[in-house]
Amino acid sequence: MATPTKLAHVVYMTRRFDEMLAWYQKVFEASVQYENPAVAFLTYDDEHHRFALLNMSAFDPEGVAGVMPIGVGVNHVGYTYANLGALLETYERLKQLGITPYWPVHHGVTLSIYYRDPDGNRMEFQVDCCADAAEANKFMHSAAFAANPVGVEIDPDALLAQYKRGVPVETLMVQPEGPAAPIPPEHGLSA
Ligand SMILES: [Fe+2]
Repeated sequence: MATPTKLAHVVYMTRRFDEMLAWYQKVFEASVQYENPAVAFLTYDDEHHRFALLNMSAFDPEGVAGVMPIGVGVNHVGYTYANLGALLETYERLKQLGITPYWPVHHGVTLSIYYRDPDGNRMEFQVDCCADAAEANKFMHSAAFAANPVGVEIDPDALLAQYKRGVPVETLMVQPEGPAAPIPPEHGLSA
């Protein structure tokens, strides 16, 4: 049996080409590998492109911007950071650029911070809280997960402050006690 060896890239169609290009460069510290008026390829590692942006104003000049569909298609794309420090430092860097998340939540399996790009495409920046897939699977079959599968809201500023004070990341990654986090409307699961 053959399965893919990795996820290669995500391609977004947009009518905010310049704004999207700037956002992906900032957020992912991505570099533009190739750009023309219709398409741009960007990467943030040794993959030749992690993103392509298609300028729909070039491909389809007469068209109009659509709205993000609700209840169909991709909800979000998730990215795992190496550790909590890298995630929190990214949160801080983006906040200084005026880019803020719409949903910081501890899912139990992951500590996650969700963002939307200028078009509203969602992405999840996360760190894994489980040592491996077996531990994650065990958690997802636990009573705790059954009682609250969404997770608990977190405060990234408080986590960042504690991280800077030297609180061990193992401590900061423990899911806080609390009620199930409300799913914000920006997450697109309801109109
Ligand atoms: Fe996710």
